[in-house]
Amino acid sequence: MTLIIIEDLVKIYSAGNTRVQALRGFNLQIEESEFVSIMGPSGSGKTTLLNIIGGIESPTAGTIKIQGVDITHFIEKERDRFRLESVGYVFQSLNLISSLSVRENIELPMVAANMDSKTCHSRTEELLELFGIEKRGNHLPDQLSGGEKQRVAIAMALANDPWLILADEPTGELDTENAEVIVSYLRKCVDELEKIVVMVTHDATMARYADRICFISDGRVKSIYKSNEYKEEDMNSYVFHLKKRIMEIDSSMRKLETQFLDKAIDNSRYLEEYRRITTIKNVLDDELHRMGH
Ligand SMILES: Nc1ncnc2c1ncn2[C@@H]1O[C@H](COP(=O)(O)OP(=O)(O)O)[C@@H](O)[C@H]1O
Ligand SMILES: [Mg+2]
Repeated sequence: MTLIIIEDLVKIYSAGNTRVQALRGFNLQIEESEFVSIMGPSGSGKTTLLNIIGGIESPTAGTIKIQGVDITHFIEKERDRFRLESVGYVFQSLNLISSLSVRENIELPMVAANMDSKTCHSRTEELLELFGIEKRGNHLPDQLSGGEKQRVAIAMALANDPWLILADEPTGELDTENAEVIVSYLRKCVDELEKIVVMVTHDATMARYADRICFISDGRVKSIYKSNEYKEEDMNSYVFHLKKRIMEIDSSMRKLETQFLDKAIDNSRYLEEYRRITTIKNVLDDELHRMGH
């Protein structure tokens, strides 16, 4: 059964005179008990998409229907309730509270949802055990390894038993071994607890744990693969495209320098173009670096 239907989603951010179109007609349907990975360049709208699915932000246009209900028309109270009861968020940069113990951190979302303290305590013990951190309950977050912290973050996301888990680059700061542990837990949430997981990742190996991989580019779906159909070449073709763009940029830089030396353009024009090209090149270099090249 299709539980989430996202149609023609548009999100425009305006700050002063500048407008950024983060989503430009995004469409996706997600089935029950499905794990979907979202991949795409930085700035392509991945975080914006998760925030809209999770009811943290509203779209400028388009609809998102969850179990047949259009959440884009929710009033604030309905939205808060949806967030608290239905959605579990796992962030890359953890917002664990450093002065509270692991146990107290995991209890927080349950306290926020007014759960009675007995259920809250037993549920916390259950979660600590499920994630293999039962010995860490009384530790402070700073006493944990990166992988353990991320397990606490998933435990928190699951605290109120949401059916939808949204994870924004949950393994971004972990080594491969710890990353695989975290993604296996997310996989378990789908296989054993029948939840829906939507995970943003830059890592093709982690993305493969999902049932489907959705590539997003410039705020739109570029392609969708079942993960067993997905081939490394597709990833490589993206890397290839990046490298090609960098070569083009290098060549326009050389052209610019020749123009300047030939006095075909003046100093300020040269500087302006130089900055523009350098900015683009830095973004492409960063992206290539993130893809492991
Ligand atoms: N709150 C905001 N205000 C203005 N622009 C934003 C805001 N959030 C995101 N953006 C812009 O929207 C685009 C998409 O951002 P984001 O969804 O964070 O991309 P991703 O997660 O794929 O890197 C980017 O150009 C980003 O700078
Ligand atoms: Mg992001």
